[in-house]
Amino acid sequence: MSTDPVQVDRISGQTTTGHEWDGIRELNTPLPRWWLWLFYLTIAFSFAYWIVYPAWPLASSYTAGLFGYTNRGRVAEELAAGQAARMQAAAGLETATLAQIAADPKLTEIALAEGKAAFGDNCTPCHGSGGQGQRGYPNLTAGRWLWGGTLDQIHGTITHGIRADDPDTRASAMPSFGKDGILKPEEVREVANYVRTLGGLEPEQGVDVAAGKKIFADNCSACHGEDGKGNIDMGAPNLTTKVWQYGSDISDLIYTITYARNSVMPAWGKRLDPVTIKSLAVYVHSLGGGT
Ligand code: HEC
Ligand code: HEC
Repeated sequence: MSTDPVQVDRISGQTTTGHEWDGIRELNTPLPRWWLWLFYLTIAFSFAYWIVYPAWPLASSYTAGLFGYTNRGRVAEELAAGQAARMQAAAGLETATLAQIAADPKLTEIALAEGKAAFGDNCTPCHGSGGQGQRGYPNLTAGRWLWGGTLDQIHGTITHGIRADDPDTRASAMPSFGKDGILKPEEVREVANYVRTLGGLEPEQGVDVAAGKKIFADNCSACHGEDGKGNIDMGAPNLTTKVWQYGSDISDLIYTITYARNSVMPAWGKRLDPVTIKSLAVYVHSLGGGT
């Protein structure tokens, strides 16, 4: 390459740059207008972007931009909007009674959705994800209720708990028949075997079930009923169903009668708001197939 004085090209009328390669001279063609403007525009845009949006890293943070925009902030806004929408949907539940909710399919639908979510957050560790329970924690889908299965009864149980720290809690205590010496070990075994027959299960060989029946009438029927069908005023379960909270093996029953279980269900009245508790009652009621 050599340098050449700047000249005007004869054919195009354009000036040359003064660069020349083997007799070929370079034209000094200006950039097209449209391209140039676009280029200036992108520069202007980038300045605007730096100012408006978070852009420059600083020592421990970054320039926040005029609008203070952050992805995190946007998520928080969307969550708040979702929460507001939920609250609006649930607003109808605030004033409605349980009976009114049950009579209104739209309110029932909202309550079921709310109740299901709240159940997942608060109740599944003990009662299982579908309310099916586990050893020591009652199955809420079986229709065998300790304290009653109407909407109002379930609502009361959830609000005040069972043997819980609440002045109105549901309370009753099955005696520890074996531990406290009310029954002798062989009497516990006899009545345990009678309880198995109430539940349609085989008793052990060689155990006096008739004696067990007598012991039951004398010691147990006050709470569990003459026929063993339970009493919701005492929270005493029906022993004639196939549903067992603590197991039906003879060893499980002997343990239950010897020590008594008297489990605690927390009171939720102070922890959850009234709409959530109503919704939980509607949801739990739907699990257990009514009363
Ligand atoms: C810490 C464990 C635990 C948690 C959490 C818990 N429960 Fe319970 N729940 C129990 C136990 C234990 C019983 C049975 C008490 C008894 O045996 O007398 C029970 C009983 C019940 C009953 C009475 C059932 C009947 O047959 O009358 C209802 C209704 C109930 N729970 C609903 C709920 C709801 C709704 C929640 C969530 C807000 C919940 N529980 C959370 C342990 C729990
Ligand atoms: C004061 C009332 C009361 C008396 C009396 C009583 N029970 Fe109970 N029983 C209860 C209550 C309440 C429960 C539920 C407690 C719990 O779940 O923790 C229960 C639970 C049981 C269970 C557990 C059932 C299951 O699903 O696992 C068995 C079995 C049982 N009782 C047998 C007896 C026998 C047998 C007697 C008599 C020797 C007796 N009970 C006397 C109140 C009583």
